[in-house]
Amino acid sequence: MNPAFKSRLLQAANTFGTPLYAYDWQTIQQQLERLRTAFGEARLFYAMKANPSLGILKRLSALGVGFEAVSGGELERAVIAGATGNEIVLNGPGKLNADYQRAREIGAYLILDNKLEGTRAASHAFGTQVLIRVNPGLTVSTHDHLATGNASSKFGVALHEVPEAVSNAERAGLEVIGLQMHIGSSITDPHDYTDALECMAALANQIGSRRVFDMGGGFGLDFDLAPLAELAWDAARAFGASELWVEPGRWLVAESGVLLTTVLERKSTARSFAVVDAGMTELIRPMMYGATHPVESLSADARDNAPRETVTLDIAGPACESGDILAKDATLPDPQAGDVLAIGVAGAYGSSMSSHYLTRPRPAEVLLDGETWVPLRRRETLAELLLAETDL
Ligand code: LLP
Repeated sequence: MNPAFKSRLLQAANTFGTPLYAYDWQTIQQQLERLRTAFGEARLFYAMKANPSLGILKRLSALGVGFEAVSGGELERAVIAGATGNEIVLNGPGKLNADYQRAREIGAYLILDNKLEGTRAASHAFGTQVLIRVNPGLTVSTHDHLATGNASSKFGVALHEVPEAVSNAERAGLEVIGLQMHIGSSITDPHDYTDALECMAALANQIGSRRVFDMGGGFGLDFDLAPLAELAWDAARAFGASELWVEPGRWLVAESGVLLTTVLERKSTARSFAVVDAGMTELIRPMMYGATHPVESLSADARDNAPRETVTLDIAGPACESGDILAKDATLPDPQAGDVLAIGVAGAYGSSMSSHYLTRPRPAEVLLDGETWVPLRRRETLAELLLAETDL
């Protein structure tokens, strides 16, 4: 974690309350630079599902980053953030007719996810430029929920059906400018990309060369990007494409963010717990994917004169579910009620996957930009939560 950012977190918790999502703009900028250094001239379409906060999208858009959207709502976010049509791709296996219409209106690219989708897409977005999402049908080294390039996943068009998908889309009146793949998320083994990129490049033999080669995103946080970028450019050239497109999500924003939470209780059953004011409703990744997020105490040093004993315990949320554990076996200075803890690497798929389960208003979100805490989103109120319910 950027030390300058870390040193400001207690102040943020005191000012805005907890639970609180806090992000560091400097970290996002650094990650963007690293992506650009590795991928050179490639076009970046940030997968905004990782963190669709408008304050972050606007800043990225101002730096020339495009967006990958997967719903009508995300499409609108891209537009509000300042992106023009040719800076947006609309993706997803189940687009609505209204999404095609809106994509055509703003001039966004479509990524077709099945071999017959071209027919429906063309009836609402005639003449649009599209890519075909390829499913290479390979094993992918990640959690089952996050693997998308394997043969049994619901995504994309199987290799042998790509020619049919292309001719169907072209017959219907769409312009097929290239192919796209996205084999999964949190990928750790570079070979997964090697094989998939090769499969996709080889399709030039069947459908001819096209302008765009979109390799998707999915890089695990420890990924060495330089060799991957080289592989991707080689594959793009082998395919005959002049443009390489990349759709990073997690890699760009995960390490920029923390979830700040306050310790409410200490308790023990057969295990020891610190019960905190955030849980599965704010950060579902540990429960959903068995994801591990580092935990640090921000108060231990600030509140004490002498160092505290180090303990190992579970960080438990307030929900009425046994799986509501933010971290198992976290080792930290003995937490006491009122301490603020930082749950790390929470900038991606944290807030964006938070929910109103248990009628819990979603937390506030703030961004450290230079010396200033910029409020991105205020804490929701109970009244807002109830607003859509009609029988009050
Ligand atoms: N492109 C497409 C078509 C995608 O579906 C995704 C993510 C990305 C790019 C960006 O992938 P990334 O670089 O972020 O791995 N909720 C899960 C992650 C789901 C990813 C869905 N698709 C999590 O919390 O780990």
